[in-house]
Amino acid sequence: MGLTRDFFITLSQNQALNSAAKRWGLKLGAQSVVAGTNIEEMIASVKKLNAQGISATVDNLGEFVYEREEALKAKEEILAVIQAIHDHQVDAHISLKPTQLGLDISYNFCLENLREIIEKANQYGIFVNFDTEDYGHLQPTFDLIDELSADYNNIGTVIQAYFYHSMENIKKYKDFRLRIVKGAYKEPEHLAYQDKKDIDENYIKLIEYHLLNGKFTSIATHDHHIINHVKQFVKQHNIPKDKFEFQMLYGFRKDLQLQLVKEGFHFCTYVPFGNDWFGYFMRRLAERPQNLSLIAKQIFNK
Ligand code: FDA
Repeated sequence: MGLTRDFFITLSQNQALNSAAKRWGLKLGAQSVVAGTNIEEMIASVKKLNAQGISATVDNLGEFVYEREEALKAKEEILAVIQAIHDHQVDAHISLKPTQLGLDISYNFCLENLREIIEKANQYGIFVNFDTEDYGHLQPTFDLIDELSADYNNIGTVIQAYFYHSMENIKKYKDFRLRIVKGAYKEPEHLAYQDKKDIDENYIKLIEYHLLNGKFTSIATHDHHIINHVKQFVKQHNIPKDKFEFQMLYGFRKDLQLQLVKEGFHFCTYVPFGNDWFGYFMRRLAERPQNLSLIAKQIFNK
């Protein structure tokens, strides 16, 4: 399992494969977990989710960008997504990754790209979530949030439970709308828990802390054990349903997504779309090698 995870995470960061895959269209089964390659397809998927009582957080796929032109293109695409969310009046907000907007090129360049995006989203009352990436980009991401949140309040971020120091971060961002996740990257032992049991324990602690704090909490997991625990916890502590939501990725555990909606919980699906799908898809395979069956199904259905 460890070796399989490392293998897919290494592939997810392979620059040559990531670039090549942009020209392939959606392949290898990625079409099951990526909602199309353009805005029209994404909006159609969001409308379907909305019709089922599910809101969406839309990710115009892209990460680890090293060329200014590519980062500027990503910014324009995200501005177009914001416009489309507004024009179609769908129930959706934005998820983005700072490395897609040039964090590795220059901090200030990324800051200005983000400012433009947040400004436009703010005009339309659309929330923008900063996804958290690998450890090397974590502090700069928080620095960007600190600067931008001085001017805007439509920003939130993600806390990754595998880091030993995540409780400090959740305390620092206690007034923010936060998504809490287990963590998707490969991090060394001196920074992050490696065992599922330790990660799960810390994950629950973080969720409970933020829920009790009264700020909006997005519990982003496919893990039914965690979801069941949260259901009990919110009941015991009388935490109103409008103070939290469950989130899952597009294409995963659709029955459970709908079941939670049926039980009256707020639910938000993470909707990735675009050509830059390879890294995202490889991380999904790293998390759960059973996801390889998605590939098999796609191949045999052809
Ligand atoms: P995990 O993979 O630990 O699975 C636990 C158990 O749940 C499994 O053993 C199985 O029993 C069950 N299970 C899981 N998937 C299943 C499936 N498909 N079918 C049936 N059973 C299943 N990461 C990050 O570092 N930064 C970020 O910004 C984000 N953002 C983000 C948004 C959203 C909406 C989600 C759902 C996830 C993220 N992540 C993330 C990814 C996250 O950190 C994590 O890697 C994955 O969600 C996988 O962990 P899980 O909590 O889903 O359970």
